[in-house]
Amino acid sequence: MTETRRFSTALIDRLRSAEAVAVLTGAGISAESGVPTFRGQDGLWKKYRPEELANFDAFMRNPTLVWEWYNYRRELISEVDPNPGHYALAQLEKMCDTFTLITQNVDGLHQRAGSKRVLELHGNITKNRCVSCSKTDGVSRTIDDLPHCDCGGLLRPDVVWFGESLPQKELELAFDTASRSTVFLNIGTSGVVQPAASLSLVARRNGAYVCEINIEETVLSGQMDETILGPSGEIMPHLVELLKKNRM
Ligand code: OAD
Repeated sequence: MTETRRFSTALIDRLRSAEAVAVLTGAGISAESGVPTFRGQDGLWKKYRPEELANFDAFMRNPTLVWEWYNYRRELISEVDPNPGHYALAQLEKMCDTFTLITQNVDGLHQRAGSKRVLELHGNITKNRCVSCSKTDGVSRTIDDLPHCDCGGLLRPDVVWFGESLPQKELELAFDTASRSTVFLNIGTSGVVQPAASLSLVARRNGAYVCEINIEETVLSGQMDETILGPSGEIMPHLVELLKKNRM
């Protein structure tokens, strides 16, 4: 398929004239960097039980087990690099007047690729938060023993676990951004985890052109203006190149 045939004229025209572009990314954008996704054949939730590892009660019952899993993921993430999909989004940000990247990922790869305005809805795996005083630190190293805060409280990874609320400020900004966007892209997300999964629907209700980029159709595909099937590490650089030729 050629570049021009892969993207609809509607998408290119909308992106060129877009006043406000918003993007939601999920685990799929980092898959080509070697970070495993959660669902699908080789997904993390096929091998591990989220209720034992991504849950506050489970953490308090067995913090060592949960830390082992997070240390394994921290190490994995520290050894990988952003892929062309992440870099293309950083370029797209530079080309747009108003651009917001909303991510469910905790791996920090968007920031490492150069994205500036990033809303992390599910936290960041490189940070810790005290279960007693809620203070966060930015430690990005692997911790061998159970880490504690200055106040004596146990430190936990600063990520959102099942049953927990998302960070209020980021959540409000994400929904505000979605409702004001004129183009909204859903990239590499299965669309089954709320409230992130609702963002593109809010955008569409408010008039945005909504497009999904994924290797396969998702539960949200029927509610998109357009679904582009393929790896984001290939699709996104093509899209940005095409937009450069038709300078925004
Ligand atoms: P999922 O693992 O649910 O979905 C990943 C999506 O990426 C799937 O739809 C894949 O088809 C797609 N995909 C895989 N490789 C791709 C590629 N190279 N290019 C494009 N798409 C690709 O991940 P999320 O939707 O991010 O939450 O999951 C949402 C949340 O569920 C995560 O943030 C995490 C998880 O439980 C928490 O831990 C709180």
